[in-house]
Amino acid sequence: MRRDSGEETPVSLPSNPASPAPDTRPPAPIIETRGLSLRFGGATIVDDVSFGVPEGMFVSIIGPNGAGKTSLFNLISGLYRPSTGQVLLQGRDVTALPPFARVRQGLGRSFQLTTIFPGIPTLENARLAAQAGASGNFAFWRSAAANRAAGERAAWALETVGLRGRERVLAGSLAHGDKRKLELALLICTEPSVLLLDEPTAGVSAEEVPVMLDVIRRIRKVEGKTILMVEHKMDVVHDLSDRVAVLANGALVAYDEPDAVMADPFVRSAYLGVA
Ligand SMILES: Nc1ncnc2c1ncn2[C@@H]1O[C@H](COP(=O)(O)OP(=O)(O)OP(=O)(O)O)[C@@H](O)[C@H]1O
Ligand SMILES: [Mg+2]
Repeated sequence: MRRDSGEETPVSLPSNPASPAPDTRPPAPIIETRGLSLRFGGATIVDDVSFGVPEGMFVSIIGPNGAGKTSLFNLISGLYRPSTGQVLLQGRDVTALPPFARVRQGLGRSFQLTTIFPGIPTLENARLAAQAGASGNFAFWRSAAANRAAGERAAWALETVGLRGRERVLAGSLAHGDKRKLELALLICTEPSVLLLDEPTAGVSAEEVPVMLDVIRRIRKVEGKTILMVEHKMDVVHDLSDRVAVLANGALVAYDEPDAVMADPFVRSAYLGVA
């Protein structure tokens, strides 16, 4: 309807005097822990860990053997229940949710070798992971469209990790390095927003390590995923990370950019073994 008051209709919205300054707060973390602790018997395995990871960030978690890195991942993924504290995923408290429900909410944890079905082809392994990660009811899963979508996702994941051409090989017959690539493929098949990678280059031969790192880089670049990675190789950590978290005796003792963490005297003596 035209207004005939003679006033010009404003072309831009007036600024809201109630909020004059732009919002400069950092974005809410996609994954966050608050006062997270894990105790077994008298031992404190994870000690009051609070940290947040903004979306799209690559965070490495380092610390000596037994520092609690895997346990922290187990708390985040829901395999362990914390003694105290919370885990938040996209701002929602998921502390009470079992692992599969967290997967449905976008949390991907790398499959261990034991979850690969050795007696079936590589592509079928990936297809099963894609179906497990798909939302929808049972009837949907059984539909031809869902089958096709899972197959396409599986083929894409194998291509992304560099296993193209190995689709028909039984997973159990893959070389060790290729099995670790298959783990990553299974992980991205579930379309997670956040990936938890626990020592992805462990047991990978020296020549294959750069290949694995390229795969991780590709996953990050192509899909813009948020990644948390436990890794012992410092050059890898320095190369990939936006931030590095240091655990010692279950406690978070540093959380900063790689250069700052590696220069920290406490980290250098306690973890890197440099005086
Ligand atoms: N289920 C469990 N029951 C009892 N103790 C446990 C359990 N899981 C882990 N621990 C203990 O918690 C401590 C931390 O172990 P965790 O595996 O989290 O360390 P990590 O930092 O991942 O070590 P690594 O670098 O060797 O993988 C260790 O002392 C370990 O023995
Ligand atoms: Mg570990």
